[in-house]
Amino acid sequence: HRDLIGIGALERHELLFLLAEAEDYVAFNRQATKHSDKLAGLTIINAFFENSTRTLLSFEIAGKRLGADVVNMHAAQSSVKKGETLIDTAVTLNAMRADAIVIRHGSSGAVGLIANNVDCPVLNAGDGQHEHPTQALLDALALRHKLREMGHDNEDFTGLTMTICGDILHSRVARSNILSLQALGATVRLCAPPALMPAGIERMEVESYSRFDDALAGADVVMMLRLQKERMDGQFIPSPREYRYLYGLTTDRLALAAPDAIVMHPGPMNRGVEIDSDVADLVGRSIITAQVEMGVAIRMACLDVLTRKARGIAGWSDTQ
Ligand code: CP
Repeated sequence: HRDLIGIGALERHELLFLLAEAEDYVAFNRQATKHSDKLAGLTIINAFFENSTRTLLSFEIAGKRLGADVVNMHAAQSSVKKGETLIDTAVTLNAMRADAIVIRHGSSGAVGLIANNVDCPVLNAGDGQHEHPTQALLDALALRHKLREMGHDNEDFTGLTMTICGDILHSRVARSNILSLQALGATVRLCAPPALMPAGIERMEVESYSRFDDALAGADVVMMLRLQKERMDGQFIPSPREYRYLYGLTTDRLALAAPDAIVMHPGPMNRGVEIDSDVADLVGRSIITAQVEMGVAIRMACLDVLTRKARGIAGWSDTQ
């Protein structure tokens, strides 16, 4: 692969390869000084057409720790505001001879469109309601670290049940996670208000629930998602209090899951809505900050691997 557009395009061995590459960067990032010249001389452009804290900063930090020249394009301050088309923007970034372009865009398919119009690797940092592949990879890495700490030493998630609850309809995080978790052997349960569950989701071979208590029963991992109000123009949005009552992860609800169930959230969280602070900050059970830490390592691995061809190193898909 030249690009990283979605988990759906990756084989299981490619997922495991990216996770293994990222393991080295977890250790690297825990050193007091963390700088490599691996990507020295390369230019990486982070072009974000939607807001971001975690993804943008971790891609920027990842590129800089690898010695690349990293520049950020925020659409709100760019010529997109003057009516420039997406393809013209892509051609413009390409003409600057970027060596990798990282894109976040609100329209599903925009990342693929840009990839078709540039000469360098493109990394999807969030593509509408489609996919958010580096999020699924960092989630898998954080989960694997936690499971290892708990005494499991499988490289995959065979036998594990994960419940993902929230606004599944609009969630690129859910879509990428379903694909990666299933490729790595987990059973995936989805829970959402009926209006926020995609039609035909059963085709993804998931278990689908509308009652959260049922979805939680005995689950090993619970991943909570926020309501993506920015994608709900004109749709009914439950009140925060109503939503918490039906779908919020409270201490009482968490007790329905497996006794040592792991709690995850990709962020940003709406505390007191989809997740209570008592649960989000539950020491030993919540891995939400570990997810953020793993995000830098995963993005370093993805930038490293996808620029190998440009650096004269064998392409990553040649690796089994
Ligand atoms: N999880 C995630 O993508 O967070 P940001 O929107 O802050 O990047």
